[in-house]
Amino acid sequence: MCVVRPDVAFFRDLDPVFVHAPPYKIKVVEPIALPPLEERRLALEHAGYNTFLLRSDDVYVDLLTDSGTSAMSQEQRSAAELGDEAYAGSRSFFRLERAVREVYGYRHVVPTHQGRGAEHLLSRVLVAPGMLVPSNLYFTTSRAHAELAGGIWVDVACAEATQPESSFAFKGNIDLDKLEAVLHAGNVAFVRQEACLNMAGGQPFSIENLTQVRALTREYDVPFILDATRSSENALFVKRKEHGYAQRSLPDVVRLIADLSDGAIFSSKKDHFVPIGGLVAVNDDLLAEKLRELVVVFEGFPHYGGMSGAAMEALAQGIREAVDEPTVAHHVDQVAYLASLLQEAGVPIVLPPGAHAVFLDAKRFLPHVPQDEFPAQALAAAIYLAGGVRTMERGIVSGQHGHDPYDGLELVRLTLPRRVYTQEHLSYVAEVVVDLYAHARSVPGLRMTYEPPSLRFFQARFEPLGAFALV
Ligand code: F0G
Repeated sequence: MCVVRPDVAFFRDLDPVFVHAPPYKIKVVEPIALPPLEERRLALEHAGYNTFLLRSDDVYVDLLTDSGTSAMSQEQRSAAELGDEAYAGSRSFFRLERAVREVYGYRHVVPTHQGRGAEHLLSRVLVAPGMLVPSNLYFTTSRAHAELAGGIWVDVACAEATQPESSFAFKGNIDLDKLEAVLHAGNVAFVRQEACLNMAGGQPFSIENLTQVRALTREYDVPFILDATRSSENALFVKRKEHGYAQRSLPDVVRLIADLSDGAIFSSKKDHFVPIGGLVAVNDDLLAEKLRELVVVFEGFPHYGGMSGAAMEALAQGIREAVDEPTVAHHVDQVAYLASLLQEAGVPIVLPPGAHAVFLDAKRFLPHVPQDEFPAQALAAAIYLAGGVRTMERGIVSGQHGHDPYDGLELVRLTLPRRVYTQEHLSYVAEVVVDLYAHARSVPGLRMTYEPPSLRFFQARFEPLGAFALV
């Protein structure tokens, strides 16, 4: 079956790769069902209009996150059987270390239970009170850990990162003038650049920009640490969009990205296809020693760091699959497919479509809901109510107190787990969203009734300021 609709202009832009049929077939299935409307209404009320607080049994298509939700391969599952559960000196750790060294080239590998464990260790080692952490925008947990260590987060993203309508190909780039000003002021803990910048819509950086950031961090002698969680997809975008890289292999570009940094943190729950796991990987011996001193306190012995031997084996295999071009391309192309269905119907989305998700621009979707009535949160609630599709708010609720000016982004993320949903699921999701867009006026704003002190988006509760009359 041809899954491409060549009349859609968007795909022509993606030359030379069209959407191919999946490079896998399905061997194990998990039943899902759409609960009746009245049950969805009740579930939403119980969840305080926060999609994080829904039970997965109440969800039909779950696009909350691509984190830990991907399907493992048969090779990962069989590798898990080889897990060596020795507390120290585990064979599985050394296999994991070898995979990281081969694919990314970092000399030292410290495993953690997931990405935020890696961020915690890194911030504790590198950040002292009052030090600056310049980054392209922010990620919620990355910023939280830098701030818990007393650091001051400084956004040095390029201007296009916060312009949903800009079609700039590399919104993950850092503004070099802004960065240099921060470096010049001094007291910088490390420079962080995130691959496929999540909060901007999964937007990649270019190798050109990365190279310039590398040069500046060398000049000022400040560690340059990647958030390489989605570096495979970033590498794919480089191959497709940056001049001079089309003929390079995906593993080559992934390696090139890693080689331009001093180290990286990974949430392995994304590109590496595992339900749990993370890494901090660095080249510097002293830094590695300090990370190992801390990992035993907070995560586990340095030879497992919060993961089982089985999990490390599945991760080692997942790291190799993460540089398989057809696999990475299929995920990115699924995102582009969903984006094209929405774009054709005039639904306002962040352009260009990013790596792991389509982001709706809630400010334009619900222009009648002012930002202090949480339009992205309200839209995520409405999408669930309309079709049992779970999405995630990425707006001022996800931002932290005092951080996000009211002119900031107000997005809803439709995140695609890897190797999980079919094209039919995506068509269904598009139908739900397009239909809702036609009834957008009937979506009310929300009032926050419970606000947790940190990372409030996970557990905040809301009530509607009117009736959800859309269905
Ligand atoms: N960095 C990035 C860029 C992330 O997207 C995430 C998690 C983390 C770090 C933290 O990793 O969850 O393994 O502790 N992102 C998930 C998401 C939660 O839905 O985007 P973690």
